[in-house]
Amino acid sequence: MLSRYIMVVACSAALVTASAVAEDRRAPIEVDPAQQEMILEEMRDYVVALQKITSGLANLDFDPVAEAAASMGRGRMTGERRQMAMALPEHFRMMGMSVHDDFDAIARDAEALGDESHTLEQLSAALAKCAGCHSAFRLELK
Ligand code: HEC
Repeated sequence: MLSRYIMVVACSAALVTASAVAEDRRAPIEVDPAQQEMILEEMRDYVVALQKITSGLANLDFDPVAEAAASMGRGRMTGERRQMAMALPEHFRMMGMSVHDDFDAIARDAEALGDESHTLEQLSAALAKCAGCHSAFRLELK
């Protein structure tokens, strides 16, 4: 009897978990395939840059930190990338641009200060924006 009770409780817990996972409250951002590819490529480039930045910090070698951070700054938003970004909803674009600005600041300060705990603090603030945007939005093909 007790084991049956435990099974019922366990199953309802599993159901609750499953429905919590299935429910997606993120707001859709409508994109065409080219915009989607540009955005996801940028995201993957962020991860590559983060790896270089953290490895540079571990070695207290600030040149690769600055270089990798600058590669994700506003400078990359030119030409076609800029045009595609301009077509995205403003609130989403502004959030994205503020992370590019953060990476520019990380690059500048890494070069000027060479202070790992300062860089880590900046990185942590930028990563909070990554997480914030991910919990708020998802892409949806038009
Ligand atoms: C302005 C919003 C925004 C910001 C800021 C942002 N992302 Fe994303 N990211 C997204 C969206 C939207 C997706 C697609 C999620 C979906 O559709 O399920 C995504 C997807 C990803 C993916 C999956 C890529 C793939 O190929 O599937 C990675 C990795 C990622 N982001 C990393 C990051 C990192 C690291 C940062 C910060 C340095 C970051 N993102 C900042 C919105 C953002």
